[in-house]
Amino acid sequence: MLKIGMIGAGFVARFHERALRSVRSAELAGVYALKGAEALAQLARQDRLGDTKAYDSVADLARAVDVICVFAPNFVRVPMMREIAAAVEAGARLKGIIIEKPLARNLAEADALVRIAQSMHVPTAYFENQIHMPAVVQARTQLAQVEKAMGPAHLARSAEEHGGPHEPWFWDPTTQGGGVCCDMGCHSIACGMYMVTPSERPINYLKPVRVNATMALLKWGKEPWLSQLKKRGVDYSTTPAEDYSSVALEFEDPQTKQHSIVQATNSWMYDAPGLRLLMETFGPGYSYTVNSLESPAGIFISDAAAAAVLDSELALEKSQASRGALILQPDEIALYGYIAEWLDAIQAFEQGHDALLNLEYGRFITMLIMAAYLSHERRKVVDMTDPQTLTELATYVPLIQQGKGKQVL
Ligand SMILES: NC(=O)c1ccc[n+]([C@@H]2O[C@H](COP(=O)([O-])OP(=O)(O)OC[C@H]3O[C@@H](n4cnc5c(N)ncnc54)[C@H](O)[C@@H]3O)[C@@H](O)[C@H]2O)c1
Repeated sequence: MLKIGMIGAGFVARFHERALRSVRSAELAGVYALKGAEALAQLARQDRLGDTKAYDSVADLARAVDVICVFAPNFVRVPMMREIAAAVEAGARLKGIIIEKPLARNLAEADALVRIAQSMHVPTAYFENQIHMPAVVQARTQLAQVEKAMGPAHLARSAEEHGGPHEPWFWDPTTQGGGVCCDMGCHSIACGMYMVTPSERPINYLKPVRVNATMALLKWGKEPWLSQLKKRGVDYSTTPAEDYSSVALEFEDPQTKQHSIVQATNSWMYDAPGLRLLMETFGPGYSYTVNSLESPAGIFISDAAAAAVLDSELALEKSQASRGALILQPDEIALYGYIAEWLDAIQAFEQGHDALLNLEYGRFITMLIMAAYLSHERRKVVDMTDPQTLTELATYVPLIQQGKGKQVL
């Protein structure tokens, strides 16, 4: 039974607490967070996930657990990892480190995280749940023989959209790393690349060749949305981020030299029910699609009964409406791949190795995100085979992330 310790007790930590209810060989032993640690620990105890305690520091948490998870905001990734490394240096015996997506705000930070993790010699997991979504994994499994006969997929489209994040630090490009491309493009780029990767090849098999991106601020720079954000302490008239991102990535199979294309599209203006994940993959003679809003369940609440609504987000993440015809996903945790990513990480750590997705993989996705920002900034296609471009990406910080988004949005 591995003892899990979470740093962060916010939105995603609560999702993971729910996921752990379906994982048998792990106990949620501790939580450390600036806010909400005791409430999450209490919830976990109620759910019989263990004798969960709230700790006062990373060091105390690290001493008490086997696996430490960084579920805190993007801007504290590097200091958090340094604190974990110091705890390990001081004697904490960790069997695994988990970091939520996106790995980092830029490649220099991602490199620092990878370096620190390597120096600790502790196995890692990069939590990108969409690659573990049962709908995607099952479609690939079902089509594996077809793919063998006909050839691998050549085109994937992957999109995640919702009406905008829940906390001000996500909106602020300097703390989060950018706008929707950094926040949700990391999912869609990773999942799209997975969908065109031949089924028997490793997760990082395909070589990126070209990246071409367009980003824009379409909704949240206009009134009344601009003022709504200002009330939350975020000023898009001075420090904007993109609420729309469209990234086209071209990959090459290093053996067959065949090319495939991924279109990753994301927005924070999905004024429609909840959060939608839309994936489609096309191979020679076959295809599959995933739409996370196609649910067997729905509910209806009339105006007359609307006063009785408790919390519509209990039915669907970012639901935006609380009456009329509403979509209800009975098991979002399983649908989005959270349970599967835990099962993969726990099994890997028990066996002493990295999960399917490790921090090096997270670094690779960060590189593709940086290429997307560079492409938008320069209004040109970024050549990922050019050594000079790769050198530039290593230290590149997008203008949007620097708080200078007005120049490019
Ligand atoms: N996989 C997904 O779909 C998904 C969904 C949501 C968030 N995330 C990722 O999870 C991470 C956290 O997001 P969230 O939505 O839970 O954020 P949040 O703001 O809801 O919660 C953040 C938590 O971290 C704590 N925290 C902040 N700074 C800290 C510090 N210096 N030390 C200790 N604790 C600190 C806060 O008190 C809070 O408990 C982000 O990197 C985000 O990108 C992933």
